[in-house]
Formats: sequence, C-alpha cells, structure tokens
Amino acid sequence: MSMTLTPSLDAEESYETIQVDRIGGSLGAVISGVDPRDGLTEQQFSEIHEALLRHEVVFFRNVPMSAEDQLELASLWGQPSIFPLQAVMGATEPSTSIIRDDAESLPTTDNWHTDVTWIEVPPKIALLQSVVAPSYGGDTMWCSITSAYDALSAPMRAMIDGLEVHHSNYPQFCTSMAEKSGSWDLVAPLREAYPGVEHPLVRTHPETGRRALYIATNFHQYVVGLTENESTALLDFLVRHINQPRFHCRWSWTEGDLAIWDERSTNHRGVSDHYPQVREIRRCTVDGDRPYFDPSVPYQPKATMMPTDAYQPQ
Ligand SMILES: [Fe+2]
Repeated sequence: MSMTLTPSLDAEESYETIQVDRIGGSLGAVISGVDPRDGLTEQQFSEIHEALLRHEVVFFRNVPMSAEDQLELASLWGQPSIFPLQAVMGATEPSTSIIRDDAESLPTTDNWHTDVTWIEVPPKIALLQSVVAPSYGGDTMWCSITSAYDALSAPMRAMIDGLEVHHSNYPQFCTSMAEKSGSWDLVAPLREAYPGVEHPLVRTHPETGRRALYIATNFHQYVVGLTENESTALLDFLVRHINQPRFHCRWSWTEGDLAIWDERSTNHRGVSDHYPQVREIRRCTVDGDRPYFDPSVPYQPKATMMPTDAYQPQ
C-alpha cells in the first residue's frame, strides 16, 4: 500500500498566511502573523495544521482566550474530547480542564508521556494555554518520538516494529488522582471502564506516515510476549533513549501563550521546578483514532536526523 502524505513532508516548507520559526532541531516552532482567536480562514488553518504536522508542537505567544474559545479552536481539528475521568463522573460534553500546581497540589506530570494512552482511542491533538505562569521554572518540555525512532539502529528498529505494549491507568494515574482528590471512590469505576489496552510500540502516524515510539512513562506497563526481564529492559532503554536533549524542545511560559501539539508524534512533561509558586494551565484534547502499525507504509526518516552507526568499540 502506498500512502499519500498530507501534506508531503518531502516538499519544501512554505506558507503564505503565517510565519513559522523553528525553536529546535527535532521539533517545535513558533507561529506568528495570525491570531488564532480571530476565526481562521481555511488557508490559515491548513497552514497551521501543516506546521503542526511538520514541527509536532507549535506555539502562539500572548493569545489569552476563554475556555470556550479554546474548545472552539480545538474543534477545528475534530471532536474535542471528554476526558475519561470526567466521563466516569457522568460528563457528556467535552470541556477544558485546569491543572493547577501549588504548595497544596504538587505537580504530577514531570515524566515523559503522551496523554491518556490507557484508552483504546487516545487523543490526537492537545491545546494548552498558560493561565498563571510562575516567575521562574514550570516550563513544559516536548520530545519528538519520531526523531527518537529514526535515531535507533536498523536492527533495533526491526526488532521493535510490530511489538505491542500494554497501557494502564493503574497504578500511576489512579493513585495520583486519588491522592490529589483525597478520595479513592473513583478508582474502581475508572479501572472498570478503562481496564487497560494494547497499543503498538511503533506507531504509524496516520497523516504523515512517520513512525513513532509510542511510549508513555507510568502508563506503559509491559511489552506483550516478552519475559518480564526483557520487557523491563526494553522499556527502560527506550525511556532513556528518548531522554536525550537532541530530541527535545522546551517552552518557558508567559501567561496567554498557547501550545498545540501532536499527541501521536511527541511525548511531553511539565517540569516541576517552580515550587511553591503557582502554575495554572488549561488543557483540552481532540479525539484521535486507534493507534496502529502499518509495515507497508514506506519508512521515511526525518532528513534532520543523523545516520546511526553501529557501535564499534575502539
Ligand atoms: Fe500530559
């Protein structure tokens, strides 16, 4: 099967209605020249989406908006999500959620992950706005899990292509939710509604065809079919692998900044070095599709990744 990339990432990058300035070698770009609160034209949205697919996370500076406007902007990418925790509590409409860290509610997102991998159909896009920014610290970091895949050796890529990983909300998500809320009442229904799911370890991006290391610390539990030792060693290695700064970008928030990222090609983490200052962010996500690995889609590493040589001790 051949796949038409939308857009073709081989083509030269050029835009007519927006300006795109990269902030990292692997991912990240600032978009200017357009105000996402103004009601985007078809061409503006199409170019923003292309920049998002190319750069995996994009930023708009100083565009404070209401929760309703954030949801409306999200809806340009598809159906805004009902967060599973809210669904278990009876919500039937999508909403934004506020994540507020302070001295009483400590940060819990300082680990590499992509969101909600413990459901069958995880979100594809996330939009995050800074509401209260600490005067220092509290950055968010992103990691390109497509670049990280590309930087693996060919034998390692061949070994992990096609493997499946079990993801679960237990224990990490359930435990931190219970500790933050002071109640364990929702843990049983949450586990019952979302008992865990298998996703491919290497995910084919449905729009670009790129391959990504689909891992999420604290949600991925084990690699299906491997022994416990093999599974632990492989997942530990991959987490160490994606932890290399060459795959990262980092954003220092000013209130009103907006980040939009592709959940299918990135991991992220909220750096927890702002204590005891307050950091408040407003997040929403857009429903995606079930992750898959399609070996028939031609493998196209990013042009920016250095070729990986085999290890040769001197
Ligand atoms: Fe997250």
